[in-house]
Amino acid sequence: MSEPILEPVTLETDRLILRAPVPADIDAIFAACQDEEIQRWTVVPSPYRRADAEFFVDRLATEGWATGRNPIWCVVEKQTGALVGTQSLAARGPGAAEVGYWTAAEARGRGYGLEALHAVCRWGVAERDLRRLEWVAYVGNEPSLALARKAGFTLEGTLRSYAAQRGAYLDAWMGSLLASELAI
Ligand SMILES: CC(C)(COP(=O)(O)OP(=O)(O)OC[C@H]1O[C@@H](n2cnc3c(N)ncnc32)[C@H](O)[C@@H]1OP(=O)(O)O)[C@@H](O)C(=O)NCCC(=O)NCCS
Repeated sequence: MSEPILEPVTLETDRLILRAPVPADIDAIFAACQDEEIQRWTVVPSPYRRADAEFFVDRLATEGWATGRNPIWCVVEKQTGALVGTQSLAARGPGAAEVGYWTAAEARGRGYGLEALHAVCRWGVAERDLRRLEWVAYVGNEPSLALARKAGFTLEGTLRSYAAQRGAYLDAWMGSLLASELAI
């Protein structure tokens, strides 16, 4: 059965707006994704070209919302309007979805990743009726593990040769946050 079509949803936190990507975000996404850490720990192409940012906005995000299977948000600082990261919530079977995120290098360490992730998890549980939020990271991504733990995720273990990255399958950590554990 296909998922219901989703209109893009905007979320607001104390310091951030999470909204669907628009073409005006392409330059900022292109710049942020030059970062070595984003290329090392996520599925973005490497090297990262402007066309990759265009594809992210025009195809991945548009289809993610249209199918309802992978809502994607740009995370924008309210005070400045600067793009400071992205968040996503990919469907993973009935009642489950996997979080995904990066914070632009210059915006790290300010709690933005946590603030945005928490908003996405709350929305997933409250509005999408999710029972289980999953977090998957390549083994060794300590900053992402620390952030996920701070958001309430429990590390469940290591899945060998599990998560794809540019044609290879890497060992991955899997964690979860259940709806019943989420502080709404
Ligand atoms: C992981 C990442 C998203 C963290 O983003 P961030 O906005 O800097 O995270 P926050 O400032 O919200 O940090 C929240 C908590 O996470 C933990 N944390 C974040 N970065 C950390 C680091 N480098 N080392 C240790 N703990 C870290 C801390 O507990 C922090 O809380 P504290 O500052 O109160 O101690 C960012 O480093 C990043 O974009 N990395 C590259 C892409 C990536 O790995 N994406 C995830 C793929 S699974």
